[in-house]
Amino acid sequence: MTDLTLTSTSPASLKVDALVVGVAKGANGVVLVPGAADVDKAFKGRLAATIESLGGTGKSGEVTKLPSWAVSATVIAAVGVGDEAVGGRRTPAVYDHEALRRAAGAAVRALAGTRRVGIALPADDATAAGAVAEGALLGAYAFRDYRVASKADHKEPVGRISLVSGAARDRAVKAAVSRAQELIPAVLLSRDWVNTPPSDLPPAALADAAVAAAKAAGVKAEVLDEKALKKAGYGGILGVGQGSSRPPRLVKLTYSGGRGRRHLALIGKGITFDSGGLSLKPAQAMEWMKSDMGGAAAVIAATTVIARLGLAVDVTCWAPLAENMPSGSAQRPSDVLRIYGGTTVEVLNTDAEGRLVLADAIARASEDRPDVMVDVATLTGAQLVALGSRTAAIMSNDDTLRDEIFAAAKRAGEAMWPMPLPAELRKSMDSEVADIANMGDRYGGMLVAGLFLQEFVGEGLRWAHLDIAGPAWNEAKPHGYTPKGGTGAAVRTLVQLAEDMAAG
Ligand code: BES
Ligand code: MN
Ligand code: ZN
Repeated sequence: MTDLTLTSTSPASLKVDALVVGVAKGANGVVLVPGAADVDKAFKGRLAATIESLGGTGKSGEVTKLPSWAVSATVIAAVGVGDEAVGGRRTPAVYDHEALRRAAGAAVRALAGTRRVGIALPADDATAAGAVAEGALLGAYAFRDYRVASKADHKEPVGRISLVSGAARDRAVKAAVSRAQELIPAVLLSRDWVNTPPSDLPPAALADAAVAAAKAAGVKAEVLDEKALKKAGYGGILGVGQGSSRPPRLVKLTYSGGRGRRHLALIGKGITFDSGGLSLKPAQAMEWMKSDMGGAAAVIAATTVIARLGLAVDVTCWAPLAENMPSGSAQRPSDVLRIYGGTTVEVLNTDAEGRLVLADAIARASEDRPDVMVDVATLTGAQLVALGSRTAAIMSNDDTLRDEIFAAAKRAGEAMWPMPLPAELRKSMDSEVADIANMGDRYGGMLVAGLFLQEFVGEGLRWAHLDIAGPAWNEAKPHGYTPKGGTGAAVRTLVQLAEDMAAG
């Protein structure tokens, strides 16, 4: 893990290999972003002009490197933050926290292979310092566990980061940076889990990894194996898992933030590989399906952060884990499953498996009557059609909760958008033989899936569903602090939501 320290040392005299400064697109060309004044002084006020002459424009995420004799660092990396923030006569220019997070991430990513990096971006208040710390740590990531002969071609992430702040001794600034140091390692761990080849991460292995992470954070962990699942009647998890030689699991994590606290239940879809089952996916559609446990990774990781931060909420985290495979023992289209609690489901398409394992977990989680229940799932291809690959969907049976999650996501710097649960779509899942079918109208497929889950939410409970099918995995080029592959989507939003619940 990358080491990050706050410092009040002038960036011009920081003993680092590379120094990051920010540039923006001003009305008349490139301008420096606050934080780099001392560096500019060493350049006789010509730093922005120098960067511009090298082709820098201030465009978001663009990195321009220049050798430097004027300051202690040997290289200066100027990262674009986008449009210049313009202050009023009495108000200083404030850069959007997500623009700073992305810039810090892009710079640190571009500096992979560098040992010590200094960052001189705006970090004089807690919001900015926290965002820059988060972006920098998120950018210091590479999944190299499986590289052997090609290891040297893929540089190691930045090892040490010095974050310059004019308020390095301020309590709120220090707290924001410490929070980032608890939060981001968990995001990176969830990326690792998503990136790990599914051969090496069957349900039992992911359960073991979850238990280890939980224990290290002081969280209680229990795992139900296939026998225990059968005994308790978890027909959804068992049905999906029965085609695989590697049996399913249900992970339960419990964190108590103190007596009388509000209770948050987190539930994450954990399909360690989704081949589609007998309703087999075409080869192309299967390529990213090791990411189908991204929801489980997110809720497990978030729970460990909530515990490490000692937040004043109670959390119960449920991760139903199964591998969806076709085989002689696999469930068939037209089989009927009995979900935990007794509701029967006709499986019309074995590729709509996420909702089956989640139904079990939502029904079980409901028994505890939590104040808020949130499930996170790479649930539908329709999510990508509706919102693209980067924006997650928020659906809920409670408009206020949906708004609260929307606000939490915005504050955390994660792209999410509210989506409806139109009641009229429910009848498209009426089954000829069972209580409900696992498929309905193709149009609005994401909403249909949400409505299916809603059936298993206990009477009167506040519940929300996050579809992160696209955001959990970056198939495109890296951008900002987001690498190719596993992204760690939703962890930051869930932690922010728990913080909001603890505060009010
Ligand atoms: N895991 C997939 C959804 C998915 C698709 C995630 C693309 C990430 C990228 C899910 O299990 C699935 O296969 N859903 C089906 C449901 C359909 C059969 C009703 C889908 O969306 O096509
Ligand atoms: Mn599927
Ligand atoms: Zn799936």
